[in-house]
Amino acid sequence: MSNLSILCISGPNLQLLGVREPSIYGTITLDEIHAALAGAAQALNADVVCRQSNHEGDIVTWIGEALGNHHGILINPGALTHTSIAIYDAIKAVAIPTVEVHLSNPDARESFRRRSRIAAACMARVAGFGDQSYQLALEGLLGALRRNVKNA
Ligand code: DQA
Repeated sequence: MSNLSILCISGPNLQLLGVREPSIYGTITLDEIHAALAGAAQALNADVVCRQSNHEGDIVTWIGEALGNHHGILINPGALTHTSIAIYDAIKAVAIPTVEVHLSNPDARESFRRRSRIAAACMARVAGFGDQSYQLALEGLLGALRRNVKNA
Protein backbone atom coordinates (compact mmCIF):
# COMPACT_ATOMS: atom_id res chain seq x y z
CA MET A 1 0.00 0.00 0.00
CA SER A 2 1.82 3.18 -1.14
CA ASN A 3 -0.89 5.86 -1.49
CA LEU A 4 -3.43 5.86 1.30
CA SER A 5 -6.19 3.54 0.16
CA ILE A 6 -9.80 4.05 1.24
CA LEU A 7 -12.69 1.63 0.86
CA CYS A 8 -16.10 3.28 0.41
CA ILE A 9 -19.10 1.04 1.10
CA SER A 10 -22.74 1.94 0.48
CA GLY A 11 -25.59 -0.25 1.65
CA PRO A 12 -29.20 -1.07 0.76
CA ASN A 13 -31.17 1.09 -1.65
CA LEU A 14 -28.34 3.51 -2.29
CA GLN A 15 -28.11 2.16 -5.85
CA LEU A 16 -31.43 3.98 -6.31
CA LEU A 17 -29.99 7.43 -5.61
CA GLY A 18 -31.15 9.81 -8.32
CA VAL A 19 -34.73 8.50 -8.22
CA ARG A 20 -35.10 7.63 -4.54
CA GLU A 21 -36.92 10.32 -2.53
CA PRO A 22 -35.09 13.20 -4.23
CA SER A 23 -36.43 15.72 -1.71
CA ILE A 24 -34.36 13.91 0.93
CA TYR A 25 -31.44 12.46 -1.01
CA GLY A 26 -31.13 14.79 -4.02
CA THR A 27 -30.90 13.79 -7.66
CA ILE A 28 -27.26 12.77 -7.96
CA THR A 29 -26.66 9.07 -8.66
CA LEU A 30 -24.34 6.79 -6.71
CA ASP A 31 -22.13 6.44 -9.80
CA GLU A 32 -21.77 10.23 -9.87
CA ILE A 33 -20.92 10.27 -6.16
CA HIS A 34 -18.31 7.58 -6.75
CA ALA A 35 -16.80 9.50 -9.69
CA ALA A 36 -16.60 12.70 -7.62
CA LEU A 37 -15.03 10.76 -4.76
CA ALA A 38 -12.41 9.26 -7.07
CA GLY A 39 -11.55 12.75 -8.33
CA ALA A 40 -11.32 14.12 -4.80
CA ALA A 41 -9.15 11.18 -3.72
CA GLN A 42 -6.77 11.70 -6.65
CA ALA A 43 -6.42 15.39 -5.77
CA LEU A 44 -5.58 14.33 -2.21
CA ASN A 45 -3.04 11.71 -3.32
CA ALA A 46 -5.18 8.81 -2.22
CA ASP A 47 -6.96 5.88 -3.83
CA VAL A 48 -10.59 5.01 -3.28
CA VAL A 49 -12.44 1.78 -4.07
CA CYS A 50 -16.24 2.16 -4.07
CA ARG A 51 -18.73 -0.67 -3.61
CA GLN A 52 -22.47 -0.99 -3.00
CA SER A 53 -24.59 -3.92 -1.87
CA ASN A 54 -28.11 -4.53 -0.66
CA HIS A 55 -26.84 -7.50 1.38
CA GLU A 56 -25.49 -7.24 4.91
CA GLY A 57 -23.24 -10.28 4.39
CA ASP A 58 -21.47 -8.68 1.42
CA ILE A 59 -20.72 -5.62 3.53
CA VAL A 60 -19.42 -7.70 6.44
CA THR A 61 -17.21 -9.67 4.01
CA TRP A 62 -15.80 -6.50 2.38
CA ILE A 63 -14.96 -5.00 5.77
CA GLY A 64 -13.10 -8.19 6.70
CA GLU A 65 -11.25 -8.21 3.39
CA ALA A 66 -10.17 -4.60 3.91
CA LEU A 67 -7.59 -5.77 6.43
CA GLY A 68 -4.16 -5.29 4.86
CA ASN A 69 -5.71 -3.73 1.75
CA HIS A 70 -7.13 -0.40 2.91
CA HIS A 71 -6.06 2.20 5.44
CA GLY A 72 -9.52 3.60 6.08
CA ILE A 73 -13.20 2.94 5.44
CA LEU A 74 -16.10 5.24 4.58
CA ILE A 75 -19.40 3.51 5.16
CA ASN A 76 -22.99 4.50 4.52
CA PRO A 77 -24.84 1.35 5.60
CA GLY A 78 -28.28 2.78 4.67
CA ALA A 79 -30.98 1.25 6.86
CA LEU A 80 -28.47 -1.31 8.18
CA THR A 81 -27.06 1.60 10.19
CA HIS A 82 -29.97 1.17 12.55
CA THR A 83 -29.96 -2.61 12.86
CA SER A 84 -26.63 -4.25 12.08
CA ILE A 85 -24.60 -5.56 14.97
CA ALA A 86 -22.74 -7.68 12.37
CA ILE A 87 -21.39 -4.51 10.69
CA TYR A 88 -20.51 -3.03 14.10
CA ASP A 89 -18.62 -6.24 14.95
CA ALA A 90 -16.84 -6.28 11.57
CA ILE A 91 -15.58 -2.70 12.01
CA LYS A 92 -14.42 -3.49 15.55
CA ALA A 93 -12.77 -6.70 14.34
CA VAL A 94 -10.59 -5.11 11.66
CA ALA A 95 -9.93 -1.94 13.71
CA ILE A 96 -9.51 0.09 10.51
CA PRO A 97 -10.36 3.79 11.03
CA THR A 98 -13.94 4.12 9.79
CA VAL A 99 -16.20 7.10 9.19
CA GLU A 100 -20.00 6.72 9.15
CA VAL A 101 -21.52 8.68 6.25
CA HIS A 102 -25.11 9.71 5.53
CA LEU A 103 -26.58 11.96 2.88
CA SER A 104 -29.47 12.96 5.13
CA ASN A 105 -29.31 13.79 8.82
CA PRO A 106 -30.89 10.69 10.39
CA ASP A 107 -31.24 12.46 13.74
CA ALA A 108 -33.63 14.98 12.18
CA ARG A 109 -35.90 12.29 10.69
CA GLU A 110 -38.05 9.43 12.04
CA SER A 111 -37.20 8.35 15.59
CA PHE A 112 -36.12 4.86 14.42
CA ARG A 113 -33.24 6.50 12.54
CA ARG A 114 -31.85 8.10 15.70
CA ARG A 115 -30.10 4.95 16.85
CA SER A 116 -26.94 4.02 14.97
CA ARG A 117 -25.73 0.50 15.72
CA ILE A 118 -22.35 1.24 14.13
CA ALA A 119 -21.53 4.69 15.55
CA ALA A 120 -19.63 3.33 18.54
CA ALA A 121 -17.26 1.46 16.21
CA CYS A 122 -16.56 4.54 14.07
CA MET A 123 -14.10 7.38 14.62
CA ALA A 124 -16.49 10.00 13.23
CA ARG A 125 -19.76 10.62 11.45
CA VAL A 126 -20.59 13.00 8.58
CA ALA A 127 -24.30 13.43 7.91
CA GLY A 128 -26.75 15.86 6.40
CA PHE A 129 -24.64 17.37 3.60
CA GLY A 130 -26.23 15.36 0.79
CA ASP A 131 -23.75 13.89 -1.68
CA GLN A 132 -21.11 16.24 -0.21
CA SER A 133 -21.10 14.09 2.95
CA TYR A 134 -18.96 11.51 1.13
CA GLN A 135 -16.29 14.00 0.10
CA LEU A 136 -16.23 15.74 3.47
CA ALA A 137 -15.83 12.36 5.16
CA LEU A 138 -12.98 11.46 2.78
CA GLU A 139 -11.15 14.71 3.56
CA GLY A 140 -11.62 14.21 7.29
CA LEU A 141 -10.51 10.59 7.22
CA LEU A 142 -7.39 11.27 5.13
CA GLY A 143 -6.48 14.20 7.37
CA ALA A 144 -6.87 12.06 10.48
CA LEU A 145 -4.84 9.19 8.99
CA ARG A 146 -2.04 11.56 7.98
CA ARG A 147 -1.97 13.29 11.35
CA ASN A 148 -2.20 9.97 13.17
CA VAL A 149 -5.18 11.19 15.09
CA LYS A 150 -6.21 8.95 18.00
CA ASN A 151 -8.60 6.28 16.68
CA ALA A 152 -7.18 6.75 13.18
C1 DQA B 1 -29.13 7.04 4.92
C2 DQA B 1 -30.03 7.27 6.15
C3 DQA B 1 -30.68 5.96 6.58
O1 DQA B 1 -31.53 6.19 7.69
C4 DQA B 1 -31.51 5.39 5.45
O2 DQA B 1 -32.05 4.14 5.81
C5 DQA B 1 -30.75 5.29 4.16
C6 DQA B 1 -29.89 6.40 3.79
C7 DQA B 1 -28.53 8.37 4.40
O3 DQA B 1 -27.54 8.30 3.67
O4 DQA B 1 -29.06 9.44 4.69
O5 DQA B 1 -30.89 4.33 3.41
O6 DQA B 1 -28.05 6.21 5.31
